[in-house]
Parts: sequence; C-alpha cells; structure tokens
Amino acid sequence: MNCAGNVFKPLLRAILTAKTRKLDGRRFASNVLQSFSMEGKVCVVTGAARGLGKTFCRAFAESGCTSLAILDLKHEEAQAAAAEELKTAAGRTQMDKLDFVGIECDISSEESVQDAFSQVMSRWGRVDAVVANAGTYPADKMKRLYDINVHGTMFTAREAAKNMIPAGKGSIVLIASMSGSIVNTPQVQTPYNASKAAVKHLAASLAVEWAEKGLRVNSLSPGYMLTDLLKAVIATDDKGLKDIWEAMTPMKRMGNPDDLKGAIVYLCSDASKFVTGVDLRVDGGYSVL
Ligand SMILES: NC(=O)c1ccc[n+]([C@@H]2O[C@H](COP(=O)([O-])OP(=O)(O)OC[C@H]3O[C@@H](n4cnc5c(N)ncnc54)[C@H](O)[C@@H]3O)[C@@H](O)[C@H]2O)c1
Repeated sequence: MNCAGNVFKPLLRAILTAKTRKLDGRRFASNVLQSFSMEGKVCVVTGAARGLGKTFCRAFAESGCTSLAILDLKHEEAQAAAAEELKTAAGRTQMDKLDFVGIECDISSEESVQDAFSQVMSRWGRVDAVVANAGTYPADKMKRLYDINVHGTMFTAREAAKNMIPAGKGSIVLIASMSGSIVNTPQVQTPYNASKAAVKHLAASLAVEWAEKGLRVNSLSPGYMLTDLLKAVIATDDKGLKDIWEAMTPMKRMGNPDDLKGAIVYLCSDASKFVTGVDLRVDGGYSVL
C-alpha cells in the first residue's frame, strides 16, 4: 500500500465507525470535547417546571446527566416536568440509568430550600451543579420580587455550597439577566432590574468567598428570550414591544431558550473549571450597545 493509503485508511475507518448524532437536521460525531459532558453529575435546577429552567434541564440531560432534581413551587408541576424530561431522555439513554425527580420548593423560604436539598442529599449523597433559576417579574409586588429573586437566590446558593464544600467541588450558576447591567426600554421595570444587578453581584462575591473551598459561582444573563410566557405577553401587547426589542438587538432577533443550552452546560461542566465570578451575557449583543 502506498503512503497515502497508510494515512487515509485508518482515518476513513474512524469516520465510518464513529457514532453520530443528529441535531437540527445535521449529523455530528458524538466524540465532542469530553469536558463538556454532564455524565455522572448530580444536577439541581430551581424554577424548572417551565420556561428557561426546563431548557436548562433538557440541556443537562442531552449532555449526559442522569441524576437531576427539578425544583418548583408545586409538587405536581415539578413531578410532571421530571416525567417529561425522563421520557425525552429515555430515547437516548437506558431508562434504568435515569433518575429524574420533581421536588416541591419555594425558594423564598429558607426552610423549604433546606428541605429540598436534604431530599437531594439523601437520594444521591452529593450535588455537583446547581442552577438558581427561579425568578419572577411583577414590579407591583416589590417585596415578593426581592424575596424570590434576591433572597431566594441567596438561600439556594448557600444551601448548594453547604452541601458542596465537604466534597471540595461544585458549580453554582445564578440566573441574572442583561437587565442587571442595562436599563430596558421602553417598558419600565426598575425593581426587576435592580434585583438582577443584586444577583450578578451575589455571584461575584460568593465566587471570591468560596473559591478556596473548590466551588465556582458564576451568573448567566439572558437577553430577551422567547419563552412561552413571553410569547403570551407579546401576543396581547399593542405597543409593538417585540419589534422594538428586536430593533435594539444587534442580532435583530429575540433569543430562543435553546440559545442558552451551550452557556449553561459550559458553566456547569468541567469545560469552565478555571472560570469563576464571571457574568456570561447571552443577549444577541444587546448590552454592548
Ligand atoms: N425569559 C426571559 O426573557 C428572561 C430574560 C432574562 C432573565 N430571565 C430569568 O430567567 C429565569 C427564568 O425565567 P423564565 O422566563 O423561564 O420564567 P417563568 O416565569 O417562565 O418560569 C419561572 C419558574 O420559576 C418558578 N418559580 C417562581 N417563583 C418560585 C419560587 N418562589 N420558588 C420556586 N420556583 C418558583 C415558576 O413556578 C416557574 O416554573 C428568571 O430568573 C428570570 O428572571 C428570563
């Protein structure tokens, strides 16, 4: 065999035998960078019965996570979301390897957060990645908004850390918003913006406090994302908000929840093992203008 044959034959064999996966109608080899894998990690996501939290759970499952706790206000809704994720993941992974659970938790109550984490610990004995995602918008109930967005996020991070510190490792991601860095217009939403600025600084401060304990804390700041909730808001809006928001975004579109999948997996996986105290904005360029 000539020299070219020697080189190309093993390469061709490798290409033909490589496992492939389909995504967006395109085929990809499954041998992607291993540090992005969520295999073997116990993951917890708050406010995950719907919206972005549900997308984060899907991203973890698609990246190999088999131990997942979905926390939300109502037990039935958390359970239903866990059952749906289990069904979706079962197409890829052997059913008996999957352990997804829905847990009732109101993050604005420290006791409720402690109880939820004790259920996670008694089920798996450890927790590796926690996404403090639960949040709310209504500006007319400012105290409640702060109880959830700020105090609830802190309770979640603290409880995650208490359980991660003995293991000397773990990744915590606080879901902030680009509203923590910019002032949205034309709608007014001062209490929400200020609450998200607090979330960003919680992440930066906790990152420094817990760095030597082996924990990483980062925030993820989405821009305008087309969740079902926001789709419903837009459907009844007569001010043309969607057009205005898109015109103000350099990429000229709103985000799809799926646009956040790569960012959340990056921050929670070993791919970002030297990254802490960062705020990762995923906003189509909105906040750099
Ligand atoms: N959708 C966006 O465009 C956008 C943009 C930037 C940031 N965010 C942030 O992302 C996060 C998720 O937003 P979303 O749009 O998916 O919201 P959503 O309202 O669709 O979902 C929020 C989930 O959190 C749960 N929840 C609310 N209060 C809770 C509490 N006290 N305890 C536990 N669970 C609670 C709800 O039941 C719901 O399942 C929020 O922190 C939000 O501020 C969203």
